Formats: sequence, structure tokens, C-alpha cells
Amino acid sequence: MTDFRAYELQPASSLLAWALNTYGDSFALACSFQKEDLVILDIAARVNPKVRVFTLDTGRLHEETYQMMEEVRSRYGVVIEPCFPDREEVERMVTLHGPNLFYESAEKRHLCCDLRKTRPLGRKLRELRAWATGLRREQSSTRAHIPKVEEVDGVVKISPLADWTASQVEEYTRENRLPVHPLYSRGFPSIGCAPCTRAIQPGEDERAGRWWWEQSNKECGIHFADDGSVRRNVTAKQNEEQDLGNFMHKGFTLWFTGLSGAGKSTLSQMVARRLRECGAEVELLDGDVVRTRLSKGLGFSKEDRDENIRRIGFVCELLSNHGVIAIAAAISPYRALRDEVRRSVANFVEIYVECPIEVLAERDVKGLYRKALAGEISNFTGVSDPYEPPLAPAVTVNSSRETPEQSLDRIWATLENLGLISFDRSALAH
Ligand code: ADX
Repeated sequence: MTDFRAYELQPASSLLAWALNTYGDSFALACSFQKEDLVILDIAARVNPKVRVFTLDTGRLHEETYQMMEEVRSRYGVVIEPCFPDREEVERMVTLHGPNLFYESAEKRHLCCDLRKTRPLGRKLRELRAWATGLRREQSSTRAHIPKVEEVDGVVKISPLADWTASQVEEYTRENRLPVHPLYSRGFPSIGCAPCTRAIQPGEDERAGRWWWEQSNKECGIHFADDGSVRRNVTAKQNEEQDLGNFMHKGFTLWFTGLSGAGKSTLSQMVARRLRECGAEVELLDGDVVRTRLSKGLGFSKEDRDENIRRIGFVCELLSNHGVIAIAAAISPYRALRDEVRRSVANFVEIYVECPIEVLAERDVKGLYRKALAGEISNFTGVSDPYEPPLAPAVTVNSSRETPEQSLDRIWATLENLGLISFDRSALAH
């Protein structure tokens, strides 16, 4: 992981210029049309007027937020990319619990935040290499230590205003005549979804305007972490009981098997990320990485592959016994070895990542199939070495027929059906 500490000394304008130049179209601003977002947009648009901007449109935003969206579009000429929640997920939730479920319990409120905000953000971040947020250290104790630049699950997160004070934001807004969300002048300290945000009285705590009917834990899923990242944090851990009502999991092992290039790494990373977003402790053992550390020196003979799988299986056993979710992504071509691991690991979930060899040879991301077919690599799985597909995997996904997102959703549904994870049980246990 890159060390970004040197960026702490950089002012917001240099950080944004650096991000725009380094990541280009793979960089975007997250914008909820609060004051900080406008400051960031204003600075970024001076560097590149075509800067990408996205907004999480939960479907329940204030009318005034849409007016802001129009104003920002016309003033800056930027495209604002909306991230909508998954239609089917919302339909299922509203069918089960009605449109205003969030007033009924903290669990239901978390479920709503998760479906309408956290998951769409996760989907957006999967298409980006870097993004910027308007978080400031001064805003709350949970944000007091956010770094200006950090990498979270492979995406670089930039908080250019981390060290700005509220008056600096005010001053910039005034001097540059930035559009201001109309709800600020009506006493709203922060602006979120219409049914869940309200004005506060002078002297009241900022968070008093959010989820005012709840006694504690006034954060949505996105703000789980004390560094502002999409993760469980110390504060969230202190509220463990409440969180577990929302998302629960057991220790288990997810075992991705399939040919090289079939999509095991991609999918396992996506599953790991979604689980972490929900607050789970997850450890990923990827074949390529394992072979540089735990299995360094092993080759691709049957004996070496078996030894590799035994080692990965052993680590998965230790982790899942301690309540961690272990994810393995290795070709693991031999059925007998996978079955051996299955016997030693409680809650072993086998996921077969299928893809026809012709498609793999065509894709050939690592250039290995071409070499194997030319006889330059011996014992190459699927070409000159066997692959024994699982006989009864928990789920089979197919990277030539479905998108990674579809596969992810099917894997997720399998975990729910197996009772290994559950959100608000009444909503998602089917
Ligand atoms: S396993 O058989 O022991 O499970 P593993 O998942 O670690 O295999 O393989 C990791 C990566 O090594 C593969 O994805 C592929 O990129 C590369 N590789 C190098 N040589 C071979 C080979 N002979 N067969 C299969 N993969 C190979």
C-alpha cells in the first residue's frame, strides 16, 4: 500500500490538481451539495472543468437538493452522475416494511441507509481509482483523525478539506459566491434524506438533526468508521449490539475455485469489500499473493498444488474458528484436496467460478494461456493439467454469462440463504 503521509502538507488545491492529473476519469467527487462539496467542486473545476461528480440519490432527498443539483449543473456545466439504489432491493424492503420503516427501529433505519446509500456508494467506488469527500476533522470526534489521502480497499480516498475549519469553508463560499443549499438558512446543520434530517435549535448538537427519534448511534452505514471510511470503527464496535441487529455473520470460509483468469480474484475482492462495508472482519487469501508469501517456492506439480491448498485451508480454518470471514481464491484443481479442506473447516462454502476455456484463452489477461498453448508452460491447468469441477458447489457463477455484479448478488444471496450472514432478519431472511 502506498504511503500517502507526505500529502498531509498539501493544500486542498494541490491535492485536487494531483488527483485530477494522476487519476483522470477514474477520479470523481462525491457530492451531496453541502457547503464543503461545493468548495471542493469549485476548486477542482478550476483545474479541470470536466471533473467527474457523483451524487447518491437515495430517492428520498429534499426537493431543495434537486434544485441545488440544477443550479450546480448550470453554473459549472458539469455532468452529475446519480447513483441510485438497486430497484429490486428497495422494492423488497418497502413491500416488507412500508416506505417509512426507519421510524420503527434502528435496525430498519440501518437497513434503509444500507440499501439506499452504502451499497450504491460501494458500486460507484468499484468503477473508480480515487474519489474525494468533504469530510473535515473538526466536524466530529469520529472524524478527528481522518487523513487527507488514504487507500481504502484499493480505492484512494481524498479529503482535501480535512484540516479546514467551518469558518474557512464559510469564507471561501462567500468570497467565491458559491451556491448554498437553501436548507442551511432554515437551521439544517447537515443535509441528508428528507424524512431523516431536520432543523435544529441554536445550541443543540449537530447530530440532533439526524435520526432524532433514535437514542444513540447516529451514523448511517457510510459513516461507520472513525476515519470516515466505509468500515466498522471503534465507535461502531462500542455499539456492537445495535449493529449486530442490522448485520450479523458467523465465521466461515468462502472458497473460490476455478481456472486461472475465470474471475476468482475479482469476485473475491468484491465480496470482501461488501462484507467489510457491512462491518465484518474479512481476510482474503488470493492464490497469486499466497504464492509470494505463505507458499513461496512451491510450483505447480500435483504435490506442490496440494501443499499450497493445505496451507491456505489451514489459515482459513484458524480464521473462521475465530469468527473471521476467510476468503480463499485459488485454482485448487483437485476435488480431493478441496474436500479435505471442507472436512477441517466449519462452514465451508464452495463457489465455483466457471468460464469456458476458449473464453479464457481469448481473454488471456496474464498472457499465460498463449504460452501454455504454445507449450512454453507445463502443467497449466485446463491446458496440460487437470481441473476437477466441484460436484455440489454452494453456488456456481459464470463470468462469461453474467456481470461481476450479478455474480456478487448471487453469492450474497447464497450466504443469506445459508444463514451465514443476515441483515435485519425479518427483512432479508426471505
Ligand atoms: S493452485 O493450483 O495451487 O490452486 P494457484 O491458484 O495458486 O494454483 O495459481 C495462481 C496463479 O498462478 C494462476 O492464477 C496463474 O496465473 C499462475 N500460474 C502459473 N503457472 C501455472 C500453471 N502451470 N497452472 C495454473 N496456473 C499457473
